[in-house]
Amino acid sequence: MIREAIEDDKINILKFCENTFSWGDYIADVWDYWQTERNLFVFEKNFPIGICHAVFLKEHVWIEGIRIKPEFKRQGIASKLIKHVESLAIEKQIHSSLMLIDTQNKPSLEMSQNLGYRSYQTWNFYSLLPGKNNAFEISYANTLKENEFPHYVKSWRWIPLEKETISLLNRKNCIIHSGDEHKSTAILEDSEHFKKTLIVTLFAGSDSNTVNLLYFLQNHGFEKKYQRVQILTKETLPKFENLDFKLSFHLVQKLLS
Ligand SMILES: CC(C)(COP(=O)(O)OP(=O)(O)OC[C@H]1O[C@@H](n2cnc3c(N)ncnc32)[C@H](O)[C@@H]1OP(=O)(O)O)[C@@H](O)C(=O)NCCC(=O)NCCS
Repeated sequence: MIREAIEDDKINILKFCENTFSWGDYIADVWDYWQTERNLFVFEKNFPIGICHAVFLKEHVWIEGIRIKPEFKRQGIASKLIKHVESLAIEKQIHSSLMLIDTQNKPSLEMSQNLGYRSYQTWNFYSLLPGKNNAFEISYANTLKENEFPHYVKSWRWIPLEKETISLLNRKNCIIHSGDEHKSTAILEDSEHFKKTLIVTLFAGSDSNTVNLLYFLQNHGFEKKYQRVQILTKETLPKFENLDFKLSFHLVQKLLS
């Protein structure tokens, strides 16, 4: 009943993934990419009625895009899809599973709790409008230490910040910081799914250092012609013109045995 997605599933699945949330849904934008990555699972009962995508990393499995056709909800289908991914992760000797859930998404939070997931961090999502300014001073942070921050966000997936990842990001000049005391640090990467979208993981120190970084990001976004700058941070950011708070998410985790 659970199998890898095939090209023909797309049309059926996208029909029930248009208005999932008040703002719509993003599955249509990522479907082809996820299918190429593989581990896009479909639950079929004569026809496809549910999906989820998994990314198997060394440290954890990342589960995303769980969608159940409305008339088939509350039949345990999402739980079966998640358990399927967890059992594949266990076979691969991966010891933990992570998901990101909107703090207002009660059904999904209830489901994750029933499956043994616990909220482990809360992250805030802000959107920043690019614009020209000259008011910033930043440095490239080739001093970032391993374990200083456990994860960064790559295309909306929380990825462990290990030594090799840090040096790769450093080589690409993707890590910047502002200030020495209570410094604010940001990791910048292009979205792999959306054009002209910059995704920023921000570890905020003092408000003045954070504001300095925001000025940099706003200008960088303008100069590089980004349409969207999406900021993910555990902190509450200071007030800043054209910075909008959007949503909060729980990062939920389950240890697999
Ligand atoms: C959230 C969602 C994936 C759940 O799918 P589902 O197949 O209905 O979930 P399950 O049947 O496996 O539910 C398992 C448990 O989760 C909880 N749950 C699921 N939906 C719930 C709801 N609407 N209200 C309260 N609890 C709910 C219940 O405890 C349920 O067990 P029960 O039915 O025995 O009481 C589905 O509602 C959906 O597609 N929502 C829109 C997309 C979405 O939010 N995806 C997750 C993004 S992180």
